[in-house]
Amino acid sequence: MPATVVVGLQWGDEGKGKTTDLLAESVSMVVRYQGGDNAGHTVVIGDEVFKLHLVPSGVLHPHITPVIGSGVVVNPRTLLDEMAMLEERGIDTSRVRVSRAAHVIMPYHVELDRAAEARLDSDGIGTTRRGIGPAYADRAWRTGIRIGDLLHPDELRQKLMRVLPQRNAVLSDSFGVAPFDLELLMVDALEWGRQLKDLIVDTTVLVQDALSAGEHVLLEGAQGTLLDIDHGTYPFVTSSNPVAGGACTGGGVGPRQISAVIGVLKAYSTRVGAGPFPTELQDDIGRHLLEKGREYGTTTGRRRRCGWFDAVPLHYAVAINSVSGIMLNKIDILSGLPEIRLCTGYRLDGREVSWPLDADELLRVEPIYETFPGWDADLTHLTYAKRLPANAAAYIDAIEALAGAPITLVSVGPERNQTIVREPRLISPTTAYPRLAIA
Ligand code: GDP
Ligand code: IMO
Ligand code: MG
Repeated sequence: MPATVVVGLQWGDEGKGKTTDLLAESVSMVVRYQGGDNAGHTVVIGDEVFKLHLVPSGVLHPHITPVIGSGVVVNPRTLLDEMAMLEERGIDTSRVRVSRAAHVIMPYHVELDRAAEARLDSDGIGTTRRGIGPAYADRAWRTGIRIGDLLHPDELRQKLMRVLPQRNAVLSDSFGVAPFDLELLMVDALEWGRQLKDLIVDTTVLVQDALSAGEHVLLEGAQGTLLDIDHGTYPFVTSSNPVAGGACTGGGVGPRQISAVIGVLKAYSTRVGAGPFPTELQDDIGRHLLEKGREYGTTTGRRRRCGWFDAVPLHYAVAINSVSGIMLNKIDILSGLPEIRLCTGYRLDGREVSWPLDADELLRVEPIYETFPGWDADLTHLTYAKRLPANAAAYIDAIEALAGAPITLVSVGPERNQTIVREPRLISPTTAYPRLAIA
C-alpha cells in the first residue's frame, strides 16, 4: 500500500506540477493535501500549457482519480472554472473528487485578505489575495463553512448567521468595505453545492480504500517547506503545512503508509511576495534567471524574486520531510552563466549561523558562497546523466551532498520527456541533518 508524497523544499514554484504529472504515470490517485488556489502548478504537454490551481496535477492522465483532500481550502468558483477550462480542452474531469470536510473560501475571506494586504501595502506579507489566511483562520476558529455544508441549506444558513455578522463588522468597521448580504451568499453557495454535489465525498475513506486495494497514491503538496506555517520564515509564510506531515493530516494517510517522499528543488531560488531572501540577486544574473526561467507567478503573474541556490535550509528541509529522493528542476536555466554560486552558510554579526533562524535574523545574514564554473551547453535535449557537462554534474553532486539525500531525477525542460533519471545513489537519507543551529 504505497503512498508517495511530492513536496516543495524551497519557497514554492520548484516545479511540483511537472514532478507530479511525471510520477502520476505510475499511480492511480493524486491527492492535493493543503493550500488552495494560491498554488499555481504548471504542466506542459507539447504545445499545451496547463496552469492548475486546485485540481491535482495528475488530472491530465486519464487513468488517475484526482482528489482534493480535507486539508485544502477550496474556492468553489475557482474549482468550477478550472474544471470547465479542462473540459473545454478535452480533459475529463468527471473523476475529480472533493473532500466534504475541506473548508470553503467564502467571498468575505477573499475580501478580508485583500483589504488587510492593501492596508499594510509594502509592509504586508504579499499574499496571493485569494483568501487563504482568513479561510484557515475560520477553520481554526471553528467558524468555517465546509464543502459538505453547501449541500445542506438549513445548516449552512445557521452557520452563516453566526459568522457573517462578525466578518462583516471587521470588513466595514476596519476596512470600510461593503458588508456581504447573507441571502445573496446563500444563493451562490447553494448553486456551488448543486454543481459540485456529485464530486463531494469523504476523501479519507476513498484514499484508504485505494491503499487497502494495493493501489499507489501520490500526494501533491502546494507551496514549499520554507512557506510552511510551522517551519517556514514566519510570518512570511502561507497558512497551512506544505511539509510531508501535512500529507497525513490533509490527505488522509497515516505516517507509516508513506513509503517515499520526493522533495522538489529548483536549481536556483525564487520567492514571490515579501520576506527574507538571503541569496536574492538584483543584478544581471537575477535578470537572467527571471527572463530565461520565466519566473512570473502562475497565479498572480507577479515577478518572482530570483537568487542563487540556498543550501543552508536544505538539511532541515530534507530532515523534516524525511525526503527519500530529490527531483532537481530547471538546471537548463543555468546554462550560459560564467560561474554559479551556491550558498553554503550565513554570517550574522560576524558569527557563522545555520538554519533555523527568525525572519528578522534572516534579513540581516550575509551569505557565504561556494563558486562553481558554469557551462554553455544547452541541456534541454539531454536524456542521459552521462551527457551532462562535467561542470553541471559537479554542481548537481554538490547539491546532493549538501542535501544528504539522492537526486534521482534531473529536469532539463518543462516537458515530461525532458527528464534525466539518474542511477540509484548511495546516499542514505539518514545521514541528513548533521548539525542543529542551537546558539
Ligand atoms: P510549482 O508551483 O512548483 O508547480 O511550479 P510552477 O509551475 O509555478 O513553476 C515552475 C515553472 O517551471 C513552470 O512554468 C514549469 O513549466 C517550468 N519548469 C518545470 N521544470 C522545468 C525545467 O526543468 N526547465 C524549465 N525550463 N522549465 C521547467
Ligand atoms: P505553488 O504551489 C510560491 C506565497 C505568497 C506569499 C505567501 C502567503 O505554486 O508553489 P498566501 O496567499 O498563501 O496567504 O500567501 O505565500 N505563496 C506562494 N509562493 N508558490 C506558491 O504556490 C505560493 N502560494 C503562496 O506569494 O508570499
Ligand atoms: Mg507555482
